[in-house]
Amino acid sequence: MNFTAKLHSGDILSGKYPVLGIGIYEDEDLTPVVSDLDNEWGGAISRAFKAGASPKEGDVLLVTGPSSKGIGSVALIGCGRLEKYTYDAVRRIAGASANYLRKRDFSRVAYLVETFTPDEGDLERTSHCIVEGARLGTYVFDQFKTEKDTNPLSAVDLHLPEDVSLRPLIAGLDKVLTLTTSTILARDWGNTPSNYATPSHFAKLAKDIAKETDLVCRVLEEKECRKIGMGAFLGVAQGSAEEPKFIILDYKPRRFARTICFVGKAITFDTGGISLKPAQDMDAMKLDCGGGLAVIGLMRAVGLIKPSGVRVIGIVPSCENMPSGTAIKPGDILTTQSGKSIEVLNTDAEGRLILADGLEYASREFRPSAIVDAATLTGACVVALGNDVAGYWSNNEELAAAMNKAQADTGEKAWRMPLVEEYNELLKSECADTRNIGTRWGGAITAALFLKKFIKDTPWLHLDLAGPAIPPDGKPWRPKGASGYGARLLYSLLEHWMDS
Ligand code: BES
Ligand code: ZN
Ligand code: ZN
Repeated sequence: MNFTAKLHSGDILSGKYPVLGIGIYEDEDLTPVVSDLDNEWGGAISRAFKAGASPKEGDVLLVTGPSSKGIGSVALIGCGRLEKYTYDAVRRIAGASANYLRKRDFSRVAYLVETFTPDEGDLERTSHCIVEGARLGTYVFDQFKTEKDTNPLSAVDLHLPEDVSLRPLIAGLDKVLTLTTSTILARDWGNTPSNYATPSHFAKLAKDIAKETDLVCRVLEEKECRKIGMGAFLGVAQGSAEEPKFIILDYKPRRFARTICFVGKAITFDTGGISLKPAQDMDAMKLDCGGGLAVIGLMRAVGLIKPSGVRVIGIVPSCENMPSGTAIKPGDILTTQSGKSIEVLNTDAEGRLILADGLEYASREFRPSAIVDAATLTGACVVALGNDVAGYWSNNEELAAAMNKAQADTGEKAWRMPLVEEYNELLKSECADTRNIGTRWGGAITAALFLKKFIKDTPWLHLDLAGPAIPPDGKPWRPKGASGYGARLLYSLLEHWMDS
């Protein structure tokens, strides 16, 4: 769907907004700009306030004004207590209020930005958070419904004070729109069931993106993967009737100082294989491609924004994990492209197998300055951090610090976890170089240690996004289902290496 966000300044009433959102706070008086508007409207806003318009976070009260005055309605939007107010809250509030108004037939919503700024008063960042919250919070997946959602949100207007020059803000807003579109692309493909979203469809998606952007796409078919020895990737794929696809998206600017590789797990359905998962909630495993989609979303944004100074490679091994007469069985030994052998003691720990070949391919082919992988890798990480926070592991302090900044900037939260080297004991195999599972406890850590075996000295970061990629419940900034988590986060991380 077409979605626009526009910047405005000057006289508020001249905007002719169908509805204008104004932030109100607990224990705070109306700001001068809102008082002026209130006077124009014969005190309608202050009356609503006195009658109990709630300043609690996300609450909305619609005040219909005299339309001759330029604005159809004012939405008084609760922002909670000012001293607790953050940019994350801006996203939440924009999502909640845009949804409220969309359901009341507004497809276009204006926000008076200065009433929503957290205490530093950064109007540009606030505008970005409003657009992110409103757009991502009103997402609906109705591709497979005959009756479509009746009123999607199609536009956000950002009204800024008269003295703000809008011109320098335009590029930043365009970037935000590109990145939210990437998140939505990741959501759409994540929500698409596995009979419509196969590895071949992902390969076509990547090729289509390359055509529309400055990217080059290459897809390694099964035969080529076999030739170069990707025994772990092909081992996972061998139980499925769907052809595996090893997808590579390459952004190569004319001059670059570094190459950064992103590797994303794209299992289009994870049944567990012969180590079959229980039936309850197995449908959620159509979303086991969240890491791969974050990388594809990132690459799309890179291909459109065209950052300078850095070559970016997106690597997405994609296949199904199925039980069948041709599937791998517990105890089977697979040999990776690196030459290392793996004893597969549980076929449900398949993500790390395809990543083992993905990581080796990344270092061999591109000799990158850093490798970042993203995967819906372990239930253990969801147990540890829940559905709002991903876990990350890194062998490099600079990279870990860059991730910490990126997660704070984007609101896509992630928490650093330890690489407990002693737990390598748990991965020892009697008959191969390593086994693919540890013991029950610390499962997200042993998964990270397993991946580390396929990294030499390259700075590396592993992001386990099993929790936030697949939330079981809705929040103001995202409905239940695929969240598209990671595309915005990885772009923000990549900014660490871009020429500014
Ligand atoms: N795709 C799952 C991990 C997962 C679990 C993602 C829950 C999202 C929500 C992964 O392939 C898996 O099955 N991991 C196993 C590993 C175990 C067998 C060592 C797990 O976490 O149970
Ligand atoms: Zn699995
Ligand atoms: Zn999986």
